[in-house]
Amino acid sequence: MSSKVSLTGIKPTGTIHLGNYLGAIRPALQLMQNDEYKGYYFIADYHSLTTMHDPKLLKNSVYEVAASWLACGLDPNKVVLYQQSHIPEILEFYWIISCFTAKGHMNRAHAYKAMMAENSEHGRDPDQGINMGIYSYPVLMAADILFLKSDVVPVGPDQLQHIEISREIAQAFNYVYGDVFKLPKALEQDVILIPGLDGRKMSKSYGNVLPLFCEEKKMQKIINKIKTDSLPPEAAKDPDDSLIFDLYKYFATESEVNSLKQWYLKGIGWGEAKAELFKVINRELAQPRARYFELMANTQKIDDVLEDGANQVRQKAQIFLKEVKKIIGLGRN
Ligand code: TRP
Repeated sequence: MSSKVSLTGIKPTGTIHLGNYLGAIRPALQLMQNDEYKGYYFIADYHSLTTMHDPKLLKNSVYEVAASWLACGLDPNKVVLYQQSHIPEILEFYWIISCFTAKGHMNRAHAYKAMMAENSEHGRDPDQGINMGIYSYPVLMAADILFLKSDVVPVGPDQLQHIEISREIAQAFNYVYGDVFKLPKALEQDVILIPGLDGRKMSKSYGNVLPLFCEEKKMQKIINKIKTDSLPPEAAKDPDDSLIFDLYKYFATESEVNSLKQWYLKGIGWGEAKAELFKVINRELAQPRARYFELMANTQKIDDVLEDGANQVRQKAQIFLKEVKKIIGLGRN
């Protein structure tokens, strides 16, 4: 019997990339091999709304994220897949916990601070372009996490502070009312940030991403664009200082990694290294890619899964919220 809850969300803000796959989707699905866990994986569409104000793009991104999860093997009978905005109780709960959130914590949240710093650097008002959704983003995340009594939250290193904030909010509430909320733990996926095509963290905002699902030819082309140095093909290369090698490790078997290492030390042409990288990535993604395009061509299937997920989660959310409201003195008989 699964007794622990694993929960994670992905923000739909455009095409899913390899960083999302390696940092969130793949490990979260691997965790589901473990019967000890019940999985709740969701599409954090209200989080996207903080920055994405194009309705068509938002709607399409929601489908892309859902299709990616399903294509990568999420089994809706084992994992509940749902869309955040289908669960209005989360927002009611969000208000309640925001009354237990220290404003000072929010001032110190990395994402918000980075935006302020960037504004200041450019001589702008520090608050320019920062809406309240961005500011209270971590509180909504805490609501996501706490209402399902999550034990573990598989996330990449950039989200660790958010999990920490969730724990602090839970503790502040528990301090007043007793042991109501479970304290969630981050299940840190990878200490190393997945590198993008230019060596910086793979991120949409840097424009350096490898899309998870695109036509094979396009994938090959993008891989060929990875920046390399100008060493001649026969020169020995350092595998520990190679983006291609770093990415290769995520998809290859141990013995493949060893052979490529030898090849690097002996002298490998960058074209050859890229071809090897393409081979292992494509081996893993070819089937999911086909499923992905099938799902995107028939979004009704996705809608059905999400509706089923919403029904399951709303029930739990309603019971939970009722309990919480009673505890704070706002219960109705
Ligand atoms: N902030 C996460 C991201 O950037 C998405 C997210 C929203 C999330 N709520 C969550 C992740 C709760 C884990 C748990 O993609």
